[in-house]
Amino acid sequence: MLAPAQGYALYNAREYPVMLSGAVFSFGMSSVHLKLYQGYVKSTNALLQRLKELEGENKTASPEYAELKRRFGWEFNGMRLHELYFSNLGAAPLPAGSSLRAALTAQYGTFEAWEASFQALAQLRGIGWAALVYDAPAGRFHNVWINEHDGGVPAGTTVLLVLDLFEHAYMYDFQTDKLRYARAFWAAVNWAEVQKRFGK
Ligand SMILES: [Fe+2]
Repeated sequence: MLAPAQGYALYNAREYPVMLSGAVFSFGMSSVHLKLYQGYVKSTNALLQRLKELEGENKTASPEYAELKRRFGWEFNGMRLHELYFSNLGAAPLPAGSSLRAALTAQYGTFEAWEASFQALAQLRGIGWAALVYDAPAGRFHNVWINEHDGGVPAGTTVLLVLDLFEHAYMYDFQTDKLRYARAFWAAVNWAEVQKRFGK
């Protein structure tokens, strides 16, 4: 853990005991994944510190400052999306009468229709994330592909459910079988957490 810089809060890596319990995926895959997440936290903090230094040195017109600024969203989302992913795992059911189930059903016709749309998204080729986001001002959902960590995040939406589709998230346990990984993920979703993010 990095020491906090004076007057400048840094991020701390969070603990996810459910991932290490072996109840979701293997201990081996999950422990590697958590270490990778900790790397994003460390890199986010390193960027914050270096950007602050460059501002202090009046080097905001430097190529280094510009490139680190451009990189910030990638590292930050790499950290935050992993936090959302780990915490939306843990196998808790979505109650039949939940507001989230009702709202998804209202938009997609059936809950299963929304699920099919999300599962199709999970089979896209490439590295990134499948996410259910909620556009609160419009009162509607989108299933979106996030390329790597930062491409295609709809501004102002709330991430409700997210599935890591980088190869490190499944190769160890499922090899190239993304369908089996997506099914295992689905069986392990912590719907109580997803409902909490929806907040209604
Ligand atoms: Fe990951």
